[in-house]
Amino acid sequence: MSEESTDLDSSLRENRVFPPPAEFAAKAQVKSLEQYETLYRQSVEHPEEFWGEAAQELEWFSPWTKVMDGEAAHTKWFVGGKLNLSHNCVDRHALGARRDKVALLWEGEPGEVRKLTFGELHEQVQRLANVLKSLGIRRGDRVAIYMGMAPELAIALLACARIGAVHSVIFGGFAAQAISDRVNDSSCVAVITQDTSYRRGSEVQLKAIVDEALKKCSTVRNVVVFRRSGSPIKMQPGRDLWWHEEMEKAAPACVAERMDAEDPLYLLYTSGTTGKPKGLLHTTGGYAVQTYLTSKYVFDLRDDDVYWCTADIGWVTGHSYVVYGPLLNGATVMMYEGAPNWPECDRFWKIVDDHKVTIFYTAPTAIRAFTKWGSAWVEKHSLASLRLLGTVGEPINPESWMWYHRMIGKERCPIVDTYWQTETGAIMIAPIPGAVAAKPGSATRPFFGIVPEVVTKEGNPVPDGHGGLLVMRKPWPSMARTIYGDQARYEATYWSEVPGSYFTGDGARRDADGYFWLMGRVDDVINVSGHRLGTMEVESALVAHPKVAEAAAVGRPHEMKGQAIAVFVTLEGGHQPSEELRQELRHWVAKEIGALARPDDLTFTQALPKTRSGKIMRRLLRELATTGEVKGDTTTLEDFTVIAKLREGDE
Ligand code: WTA
Repeated sequence: MSEESTDLDSSLRENRVFPPPAEFAAKAQVKSLEQYETLYRQSVEHPEEFWGEAAQELEWFSPWTKVMDGEAAHTKWFVGGKLNLSHNCVDRHALGARRDKVALLWEGEPGEVRKLTFGELHEQVQRLANVLKSLGIRRGDRVAIYMGMAPELAIALLACARIGAVHSVIFGGFAAQAISDRVNDSSCVAVITQDTSYRRGSEVQLKAIVDEALKKCSTVRNVVVFRRSGSPIKMQPGRDLWWHEEMEKAAPACVAERMDAEDPLYLLYTSGTTGKPKGLLHTTGGYAVQTYLTSKYVFDLRDDDVYWCTADIGWVTGHSYVVYGPLLNGATVMMYEGAPNWPECDRFWKIVDDHKVTIFYTAPTAIRAFTKWGSAWVEKHSLASLRLLGTVGEPINPESWMWYHRMIGKERCPIVDTYWQTETGAIMIAPIPGAVAAKPGSATRPFFGIVPEVVTKEGNPVPDGHGGLLVMRKPWPSMARTIYGDQARYEATYWSEVPGSYFTGDGARRDADGYFWLMGRVDDVINVSGHRLGTMEVESALVAHPKVAEAAAVGRPHEMKGQAIAVFVTLEGGHQPSEELRQELRHWVAKEIGALARPDDLTFTQALPKTRSGKIMRRLLRELATTGEVKGDTTTLEDFTVIAKLREGDE
């Protein structure tokens, strides 16, 4: 079990219960616990009926013959069904009653506001789809997208989906090397980017970083550049094209491709336990149905909502709950380009009031930052439009939950703590807000059709109240179908650890009321401010530095970030530790991967603790990084003196 499960203590003590506010429940889609439990029972007893009925709410070009087929890693959903997600997110509303309803409501960091109706979005998506086609991009081709939070980013995803191209969004905070790796792994034929993006008052040089990355990529034929700031950039003739020029030339209508339910929709790279991020592949039909349905029920979406998920589209939360899920529901989606503390620490609350946001979905790490900045920033604003709050990405500590509940929700808004993963595609465990009472720090109960369980490594159920591994006993529609180019790794990582089940990589405990309490990762994945990083990725970056011999990275608890990265480094002969080298190495990692991977602590040591078989004992390093000493079992250590050396370690 992970030694970083510090939330366990507080969650064991936590026994406050917050029932759905009566006023909220009265208008909610699911109004009572009994209703939730009845629906849940039906959904797991008759999954084909349940998901089949949900799927009817979307538009299919032709129906499926079977709702699900096969089992475990090989499950297929909506077999034979044909649909298009761009059609379902946009056309269905634009050609119906929502033509003039705002689809995307955007605010730039400098303060400008843009509103795109479903009708306008429809035209933009079709034009861009034609631009992509004119570049020879076909069904199944991979297209990398590296942009800031502009409406054009959502348009880019939807245009790819329209023509059946597989988008691979790379978070705008990643460095050039991370882009090259991802582009090459799936042989992308084009990149969509923008000149620069605004962040905390300065400009992120997105296009220049793409130029750097593409020096190592031979498969990319074209780069489409959206002009956001107008700042000068280099355009490479023959390869680079301006978005606005091509859009003007493009025809305004583009028929959506008839995609098979199991055709790929997108790739999204995420960190695992090896040095190489894996490209999780999501497909069309099942992903559509579950993102649609979870948005509808967990956020209790109504037609007059202004829905704001603060995640960047570069992460899975942005894919499923900025773009696909809410747009499938025809919701008005708020998007904000910049930092929460620009120009001041109340920017989010100002946006909520200015745009009358009704649903606000963010990460615990952001809430911890708001708490630290102080309540005065919140009190300047009314927040009266809010009716529902959400969190995602990491366990929320009960103190932050209480602050969120009082200061932002004014004790009036239910909070949905949503547990899921890049791999699951959509929410798996979360309260249905009008029906299930919240307990601060718990993601509560499973979504319809989802069967989580806490088990031992052998797959045996663990009694309620005890910690174990979190698995999913049954497949679900939006699960990732494979790791791009590595089916064997997909099956080994997720479907073999615990026989017969999907293994999440998380530790959890279920209480007597059937509530799930997440306890953190049990593998070598760290969660820094809600962003996943593999310890091996950080280590690989470090050993790529000429002065580094060996490196070990571990996570340790961090008050603001959830977890911080602590690394232990041994140097190549002839090099001496110094403060200068420490800074150089921290900077190096940020340059190799991205700023979010910059180690918080860096300890120089003469040796790393290893087992006799040569495995680095991360457990001991975690203990040392967390408490400053090592008390755990060291009997398997190959060299006992290494612990003393580590403690002296820092020069
Ligand atoms: C963690 C983000 C506790 C968990 C959607 C998971 C959570 C990993 C929660 C996935 C939550 C996510 N409570 N832990 N509500 N949500 N996690 O792929 O460790 O970026 O395995 O997907 O975040 O992170 P990912």
